[in-house]
Amino acid sequence: MSQDLVRFSIAMPQDLLDEFDALVARRGLAQNRSEVVRDLVRAALVEEECDDPNASVMGTLTIVFNHHASDLQEKLDHIQHDHFGQIVSTMHVHLDAHNCLEVIVLRGAAGLVQEIADRILGTKGVKHGKLVLTTA
Ligand code: NI
Repeated sequence: MSQDLVRFSIAMPQDLLDEFDALVARRGLAQNRSEVVRDLVRAALVEEECDDPNASVMGTLTIVFNHHASDLQEKLDHIQHDHFGQIVSTMHVHLDAHNCLEVIVLRGAAGLVQEIADRILGTKGVKHGKLVLTTA
């Protein structure tokens, strides 16, 4: 892909442009309209690629749970061992006296990564979580 920049013009309603400029401003000094448009296009392309269940993706699943919940840690370990081929690494942080945070890095087909994440997120006692998918 050529890295030469190509200029093109975009038409949009004034109020949408005002909101876009406010977004550009919130993103900080290093950002300008062109950089933000490029970021949005890349994000849309990655999102679309990850919608294909067969696409090869990387995922980070962040979960929060109470480690006192009965055999929850054991269940979570069990799921991860079932999918050792897709689980790249897990970081465990003790948030406070009761709560734990885990960041689980997964790799594989998007459909399978989503399925593993759903299984973990659906485990009773997992309070909160989110999967973020990306491609290389
Ligand atoms: Ni912990």
